Amino acid sequence: MTERTLSIIKPDATRRNLTGKINSKIEEAGLRIIAQKRVRLSPAQAGKFYAVHKDRPFFSELVEFMSSGPVVVQVLEGDDAVSKNRAVMGATNPAEADPGTIRKEFAVSLTENSVHGSDATESAAVEIAFFFADVEIVG
Ligand code: CMP
Repeated sequence: MTERTLSIIKPDATRRNLTGKINSKIEEAGLRIIAQKRVRLSPAQAGKFYAVHKDRPFFSELVEFMSSGPVVVQVLEGDDAVSKNRAVMGATNPAEADPGTIRKEFAVSLTENSVHGSDATESAAVEIAFFFADVEIVG
């Protein structure tokens, strides 16, 4: 089924100029980048985006990292886009990620893990609306 999902290229990756290499992996997996912009999140915005994790021990480190530099936020579209993107990203912890995945090739650590992807179609809809107006998404 055709789905949409939110992807974020995180500050560790933009800092190392990896946006194009990560986009290639996404496109080679058969996903289309139908919206994209580079933004700098404030700590308040990063905290709001990751509010679901607010009681986890890594929350403050995550917010500090996600606001430490530019991110590239994207809407990806394709067949089973949510699970397809999670497959191309690899496991959250790069030490556990499969060869060929974005996190295996590029991630620095569990926090600085290069990319975020929505975990379900319901959260994707909320996360896409967090960053994009309908007119900015051109499928
Ligand atoms: P992401 O998919 O963006 O969702 C939440 C982020 O929190 C996760 O990727 C990691 O970057 C970060 N994180 C840091 N520590 C942990 C942890 N112990 N478990 C899960 N996520 C973590």
